[in-house]
Amino acid sequence: MSGAKRLDWVSRPAASLHGDVVVPGDKSVSHRSMMLSAIAEGTSHIRGFLEGEDTRATAAVLAQLGVSIEAPSEGERTVRGVGLHGLRGSDKPLDCGNAGTGMRLLTGLLAGQSFDSTLIGDESLSKRPMRRVTDPLAGMGAQIDTQDGLPPLRVHGSRPLHGIRYELPVASAQVKSALLLAGLYAEGSTEVIEPHPTRDYTERMLAAFGWPIVFSPGYAKLEGGHRLRATDVVVPADFSSAAFFLVAASIVPGSVLRLPSVGLNPRRTGLLEALRLMGADISIENQSQSGGEVIGDLIVRHAPLHGVELPETLVPDMIDEFPALFIAAAVAQGRTVVRGAAELRVKESDRIATMATGMRALGVRIEETPDGAIIDGGAIGAGAVDSHGDHRIAMSFAVAGLLAKGEVTIGDCANVATSFPGFMELANSCGFALS
Ligand code: S3P
Repeated sequence: MSGAKRLDWVSRPAASLHGDVVVPGDKSVSHRSMMLSAIAEGTSHIRGFLEGEDTRATAAVLAQLGVSIEAPSEGERTVRGVGLHGLRGSDKPLDCGNAGTGMRLLTGLLAGQSFDSTLIGDESLSKRPMRRVTDPLAGMGAQIDTQDGLPPLRVHGSRPLHGIRYELPVASAQVKSALLLAGLYAEGSTEVIEPHPTRDYTERMLAAFGWPIVFSPGYAKLEGGHRLRATDVVVPADFSSAAFFLVAASIVPGSVLRLPSVGLNPRRTGLLEALRLMGADISIENQSQSGGEVIGDLIVRHAPLHGVELPETLVPDMIDEFPALFIAAAVAQGRTVVRGAAELRVKESDRIATMATGMRALGVRIEETPDGAIIDGGAIGAGAVDSHGDHRIAMSFAVAGLLAKGEVTIGDCANVATSFPGFMELANSCGFALS
């Protein structure tokens, strides 16, 4: 969050956690629903839209490009789509804030327009690698200038693009989605092959908006030259936000929490499996389908956890949940080993380094490796940590404070608002002692 005043938190030990915890809408689905509604023909209604800074930044960018977006109530948006070729260029930079998803997907969307755009972001986003999208987009005929691979990005309108067959070197839903969005504007077919399947929201939502697309886990193919038809979207609650409460209730004795209507797309629920491997007691009730996604209530009860060698195949399915998992590992009995997760180093912060530094400050035994960490479970001490402006690190250390020997002070927490506005109030409502 550029220019925001620094916000520090204190998390104190708590007794046990109880109650229903309704977490906000899914960030990934919210970004995509806004982008596809904007370039569809007709008016789309979105319910459950995440009122976070990241997703609001995406909405603001599309409004700047001429899309009318109304917010009749919290979590609701009415988007008057302008059609595939209806966006209008803006002379001013398009500010994606802290959002890697926003910037990378918009880069794909803007690459095939007839106008030039400049995409900027905050300090953290300005350090995140963009060649992973700009290189394959260049292969489709896009012209994008970077600052040595980093933002700001100058996206030159290049019409038409041409399709590509691209094998991703690293599993990334953002890269896949950027190419598919560019593929809407390309001649011929765009085909994306992943080394490991990642979240398929873009594929599912394109189909829901009427664009012909073939996809299966790890594979997607579409052709340019079709139209998107306005559709109503229901955004499920974000599993990645639920994750903090899954870990919190698992580790604090006597806790029972219910998290209603959480999105359970299998490409997102790796942490569920990881925690169960560690001995967690998490069940699913009231499973149903909503907007083409499986949702369900998660019921989590305290259970003694033990360390695990995390199967590498789970990594892409829990890529945003490692900070929370590291806290579970810190209090589990025995050793937890994480490998194959080098991507953590290029998230909102270097999540391996930031977590390791903070955990060591709290007396946890953790050894960093290039692509993961080795964590020996034990006690968490009191102390001060810095989240480096990374929302998920801040919330993970808030969870650590629940079981610590004293106060945990967490620096630089304002960016929690990027993905989880109201986290502190919600956490305190079920028993956290966070201020
Ligand atoms: C996201 C994909 C993931 C994830 C991010 C959201 C998405 O990033 O970490 O929070 O919505 O597509 P990568 O594609 O870089 O793995």
